[in-house]
Amino acid sequence: MKMKVMNVAVVGAGIYGINHVNAYTWNPNTNLVAVCDLNKEITDKIAKQYEVKTYNDVNEMLDKEDIDAVSIATPDAFHMEPALAAIRHGKPILVEKPLATTSEDAKKILAEAEKYKVRVAVDYHKRWDPAAINVRNELQKAETGAPVRGYMNMDDIIDVPTEWFGWADKSSPVHFLGTHCYDQIRWYMGCEVEEVSAVGTKKVLKSKGIDTYDSIQATLKMENGCYWTVENSWILPKGFAKNNDGRTQILCENAMFRIDSQNRGVEMFNHEKQRTPNSYFILNNCGRPSGFGIEPINDFIYCLQKEIPFIADGNDGLQAELVAEAVHESLETGQKVRIKRD
Ligand SMILES: NC(=O)c1ccc[n+]([C@@H]2O[C@H](COP(=O)([O-])OP(=O)(O)OC[C@H]3O[C@@H](n4cnc5c(N)ncnc54)[C@H](O)[C@@H]3O)[C@@H](O)[C@H]2O)c1
Repeated sequence: MKMKVMNVAVVGAGIYGINHVNAYTWNPNTNLVAVCDLNKEITDKIAKQYEVKTYNDVNEMLDKEDIDAVSIATPDAFHMEPALAAIRHGKPILVEKPLATTSEDAKKILAEAEKYKVRVAVDYHKRWDPAAINVRNELQKAETGAPVRGYMNMDDIIDVPTEWFGWADKSSPVHFLGTHCYDQIRWYMGCEVEEVSAVGTKKVLKSKGIDTYDSIQATLKMENGCYWTVENSWILPKGFAKNNDGRTQILCENAMFRIDSQNRGVEMFNHEKQRTPNSYFILNNCGRPSGFGIEPINDFIYCLQKEIPFIADGNDGLQAELVAEAVHESLETGQKVRIKRD
């Protein structure tokens, strides 16, 4: 059966939103009809480069254009407004992670989606990482035995909060990076987080006028009895070989697994530094975007066309945010915090 080409739009076309624009430009099942960004410089550039209609107001775009689905890649704390606008226009949405920076916002998005019978996907792209899929498949084998202990870190170099964008103080390494980890741990374990405790420091970024954490270490108690340590920092040194770092180690009754994001097949050297780019994340292959950063965007469209469940949906977005909120509560109170699911 031939599938209908879907008319799509992107809201928020900054550093990451452009990946959605590129994915839809190349996807044979999508027709990119419009891009919306508050910043006119960005929309002017996109209109020229992609020959697509652009808007600076999401409601105006939704009122005027014939759109089947919307990607939202606005800053972490500003997903709700465009998400609600798209939902109220009856459009399914793919929201960048985290779904929201409060569980209240996340719940509002999901309640409105239920009311308007609209589907919500969240871009937790690590669920498409080939190394992670490989490990998850092993975890599901009976001979692996139960997971006993897990460790995951995900860190960014300091340029990310200080130079890449201007909204770091409205987010945190927990929302920006930690939610990736919490989502992936839930996905690996096949169960929810029960309780968290966390410690963290605020010093380096605060001294630069950005009121957020430098680093957080959290312990997650899972429903299956496995404990995880999760570390997230936003202050890796500029000289680090990649913009980010990420490692996973999982000990099970009969097996152990390790993933190292510095080991993705390529090392590059020049007179200044060594680089270890991730060959599998987002690549430009003669202009065609590919990799596990692009796949979830195309998969969103595939799932809509085939009417099958999303790999990461709105509830996954909410669950990761509930953990993030509990981690922040533990950071502030110094107490263990149980995840509140009502
Ligand atoms: N999936 C990933 O691995 C990944 C990686 C990086 C960033 N992200 C996420 O993508 C989102 C965007 O991050 P970024 O680095 O591109 O930020 P950015 O600041 O570079 O871009 C955000 C853009 O949204 C625009 N914007 C803000 N409010 C808007 C609104 N109401 N309507 C239209 N446009 C609006 C801004 O003008 C800006 O151009 C964040 O939630 C971030 O966490 C995801």
